[in-house]
Amino acid sequence: MGKIIAIANQKGGVGKTTTAVNLAASLGVLEKKVLLIDADPQANATSGLGIDVETVENGTYQLLEHTVPALELIIKTDSPNLDIIPAHIDLVAIEIELVDKDQREYMMREAVVPLKEVYDYIIIDCAPSLGLLTLNALTASDSVLIPIQCEYFALEGLGKLLNTIKSIQKIHNDQLDIEGLLLTMYDSRLRFLTKLLKK
Ligand SMILES: Nc1ncnc2c1ncn2[C@@H]1O[C@H](COP(=O)(O)OP(=O)(O)OP(=O)(O)O)[C@@H](O)[C@H]1O
Ligand SMILES: [Mg+2]
Repeated sequence: MGKIIAIANQKGGVGKTTTAVNLAASLGVLEKKVLLIDADPQANATSGLGIDVETVENGTYQLLEHTVPALELIIKTDSPNLDIIPAHIDLVAIEIELVDKDQREYMMREAVVPLKEVYDYIIIDCAPSLGLLTLNALTASDSVLIPIQCEYFALEGLGKLLNTIKSIQKIHNDQLDIEGLLLTMYDSRLRFLTKLLKK
């Protein structure tokens, strides 16, 4: 039975996609069967795996709308054991499309949980927001990995994210664990500078 891990932080540019793509590719090299789901309309994970976003016709949008079966949305990548459900800029409209649906937070879970029979790991690259797309990813996941850029303002948004995770655990997904906080873009020159300033 596979594990679903969301890579999430509503702050932009903190290394979510870089983490998602590299983690997914590394697990693939370790001979795990991996599916990466691009849940960001920017489609950086899709292009990062060498797929021309302009050619994407079906992907995470259809996954969330349940208009195409999940297995038909999967594309093989050049990386060993790594498949992807791609995104397209149209995914931006999904928040509006889902808003009237009764099961709006559960659309990804319903479509993706059966794929745990097929994959060892399903990694979801989230968008920099706490909107319905990210709520769907967190509701579908077994755990969330939070990349945090090593800079002061990163901590200000963290409280909001942790509160969101707590309310998802309470309302939608009591199985959701925090896999960890991953510090990214550490710059050793800053430590050197701090030492100099203290002198
Ligand atoms: N460890 C790192 N060291 C240096 N640069 C990095 C590192 N990780 C990511 N970057 C760079 O930082 C930028 C933002 O990274 P990335 O796109 O992974 O962030 P993101 O959180 O997915 O962004 P968004 O919120 O827009 O989706 C990219 O240009 C990426 O190449
Ligand atoms: Mg990204």
